Order: sequence, then structure tokens, then C-alpha cells
Amino acid sequence: QAGVFTYDPGFTSTASCDSTITYIDGDKGELWYRGYPIEQLADQSHYLEVCYLLLYGELPSAEQLADFESRVTRHTMVHEQMHNFFRGFRRDAHPMATMVGVVGAMSAFYHDSTDISDPWQREVASIRLIAKLPTIAAMAYKYSIGQPFVYPNNELDYASNFLNMCFSVPAEKYNVDPALAKAMDRIFTLHADHEQNASTSTVRLAGSSGANPFACIAAGIACLWGPAHGGANQACLEMLRQIGSVENIPEYIARAKDKDDPFRLMGFGHRVYKNFDPRAKVMKESADEVLDLLGIHDNPTLQVAKELEKIALEDDYFVSKKLYPNVDFYSGIILEAMGFPTSMFTPIFALSRTVGWISQWKEMIGDPQNKIGRPRQLYVGSEKRDYVSVGQR
Ligand code: SDX
Repeated sequence: QAGVFTYDPGFTSTASCDSTITYIDGDKGELWYRGYPIEQLADQSHYLEVCYLLLYGELPSAEQLADFESRVTRHTMVHEQMHNFFRGFRRDAHPMATMVGVVGAMSAFYHDSTDISDPWQREVASIRLIAKLPTIAAMAYKYSIGQPFVYPNNELDYASNFLNMCFSVPAEKYNVDPALAKAMDRIFTLHADHEQNASTSTVRLAGSSGANPFACIAAGIACLWGPAHGGANQACLEMLRQIGSVENIPEYIARAKDKDDPFRLMGFGHRVYKNFDPRAKVMKESADEVLDLLGIHDNPTLQVAKELEKIALEDDYFVSKKLYPNVDFYSGIILEAMGFPTSMFTPIFALSRTVGWISQWKEMIGDPQNKIGRPRQLYVGSEKRDYVSVGQR
């Protein structure tokens, strides 16, 4: 049954939630948002239209899309006092640390959209989060490099606005390349949702307690940060740089196979996909396009990535364990070529996934049966015993 998620720790309790949002077939390497294959959406749609689809279940008419885009655009600015909030962080703080703090504090600035029992407030909170996450991510980046914040420019489309807020400076005009903006928009779409992954389950679990939506999304951002999850795009590019050249690949392949070596091939493997991650295929094509667009032809990192993928896909160990490149394997190459530091890779994943987190959170809030609730455990600790005072121990 499409989208059935059953959480069973194998012991005493089973929490399950049906979902109509995203379907993954890990063996076939299929991913659908509301029934539409990710390949078609990445090729023919754009991120805000995909946001509408994930939130409301259907592709919008032209009027519905125009209205939705207008509502999001009108919420792109953040409360001016939030600028001071950023100044409490060290300049060298990881942008994910800043985003967890700032998004979690949004309930202190937007308390008129925190009452989850009010459908109108849930809707406003959803629009605010989709609209403001790019602004907050760009502010976290600007703050980390000591440049002034750049306000959203609502003449620009969503992806162009984000690039402008990241790369323009008061001293000179920044012209957003439409082809680069389209590649950025495609990356947002590819990361928009992915069924019950760790961070989405975190958002659902936080939401099941009735916490406000801003706190729930901050919890999701915190979970996504881990290198086994959304932090893999940063870890993958750093790994590719560490490998450095095609000649060094065999050494790292051997390490990845060595049970006593904690090294893993970042950007490889997946809890669900035991075939190619369909997003990785699109991302690989996009990497070629973006590097070509930017005139970067002999990118050593891309050469290492392609040769590593080729060798790994022919290696019995990886084939037997069904380890394929995942969404994080190529994304870092594109983002680095665009000019982002590795520390911004996961914040970009987080802003893209915000719509997926919100859609799943709204689905759960709307159906009390769908709460993950409180998982149980199988206790394997000490038998019951009496207290012994410290003099007797
Ligand atoms: C994301 O859930 C989602 O949907 C997540 C995500 C999303 O959109 O939300 O898709 C985004 O998080 C993608 C994954 C990004 N993470 C990485 O690229 C980090 C590197 N990959 C791994 O750490 C690992 O593959 C996981 C965490 C992703 C999955 O771990 P599992 O479930 O242990 O992997 P598995 O069951 O498929 O492992 C099978 C075997 C194991 O060996 P054995 O215990 O059977 O001997 O393969 C080994 C693993 O040790 N293995 C790897 C490996 N990944 C798994 N060996 C070397 N390199 C790897 N990358």
C-alpha cells in the first residue's frame, strides 16, 4: 500500500501512520510526490508549485498558483528584531546551529500563528516557514562571512531571491543567472520531501505533543544536521576533497569495506533505496549542466566522484550490499560550483525540506490517528534491587 509507514521496534508497541504525501519504492528506485514521479516534477515543474502540491495534494490551477506565490512572497521578510538575534551568535558558528536557534525562536516573533488548534494559524505558520527559511538561511550565511544581510527582493522568483540574498553585496549589483536559478530551484524540488526519514519523523514526533510548528521545524533541522542524514552532503564533498585524486580511490574503497574502519563512503547507501536514488540521477545530470554553464570543465572533485561511483558500482562488496549513490553524492559538487561553502549545503537541504516537514506535520495534526505518539522499548537492564548507601558500596 503506497505510503504505509509502520514503525515497529520489534517489541511491545507499533506506531504506524498512513500517508498520502510521498511514495518510495526502494527496490525500483521510485519516488513520487502525491503520485507524480520526481523526475517529471524536477524537469517540468518548479519548487513553489511542488510546495503547493505537497501541501494541498493537487497541482494548482494558474490562479491558485499565482495566489500561493503571492502569499509566500509577501512573507519573505523576517521581523527586524530577528537581526539582533543573529548577533548573539559567534561569527564562526555553523549556519545549521544558527538556523536551529533562529527557527526555534520564530514562535517568539510570530505568536499569532502558533495555536495549532486554529486551521488559519496553521496555514499562516506554514506559509511563513516556506517564505522565511531562505531568508534565514541566507542571513546565517551572510553573518558567518561578516557581510551585511541582504533583504528579500520580491521582484525575483524564489530561487533567484535566495541566490541574491546570499551573493549580492551593497557595493555592487549581483545579476542572478536564470540557468543557475533553475538549477537551484531543481535542488530545492529534489529535496522537498522523502517520506518518513529521520528528520520528518522527528517533526511528526515533536508535533504529536502539540508543540508549535516553529519548534517542530527547528527539531527537524537539528536532526537533519547529522552526517548520516542531511549532513552527508557536506561530509561527502569533504570526503571527495580528502580523496583528492582518482589514484587514491582504491585506498578509500578498501577502508569503506573494512569493518574495523569507521570510514564510510559518504553520499552512498540508503536506509530505503536498494537501487539508484532517483534524485541522484537527476542531480548527476544537473552537475554536468551547472559545471558546463560555469565553464568549470576539469573539476577534480567531479572527476573523483564519477570515477568513485564507477568503481563502487562494479565492486562486489557494494553491489552485494546494494549501495548506490544517494541524493547527497552530487549535490555538494553543484553547490560548491555555485559558490557556496560546504557549511551551507545542509542549510540548503533544510530550507528545501521545510515544505515536506510542514506537509507531514499538517497531515498528522489533521488526523489524530496518525500520531506516532510514544514508542515503547524492551527493558533489558538490571532486575529490581534495593538502594545501598554510599558507605556500604
Ligand atoms: C539522506 O531516510 C531518508 O530518506 C534520508 C534522505 C532524505 O531525503 O531524507 O534520503 C537523505 O539522509 C540520504 C543518506 C545520506 N547519508 C549518507 O550518505 C551517509 C553514508 N551512508 C550511510 O551512513 C548509510 O548508508 C545510511 C546511514 C544512509 C544507511 O545505513 P544502513 O541502514 O546501515 O545501511 P544499510 O543497511 O544499507 O547497510 C548495509 C551494509 C552495512 O554493512 P553490514 O552491517 O551489513 O556489514 O552496508 C554498509 C553498512 O555498514 N554500508 C556502508 C555504507 N552504507 C552502508 N559501507 C560503506 N559506505 C557506506 N556509505
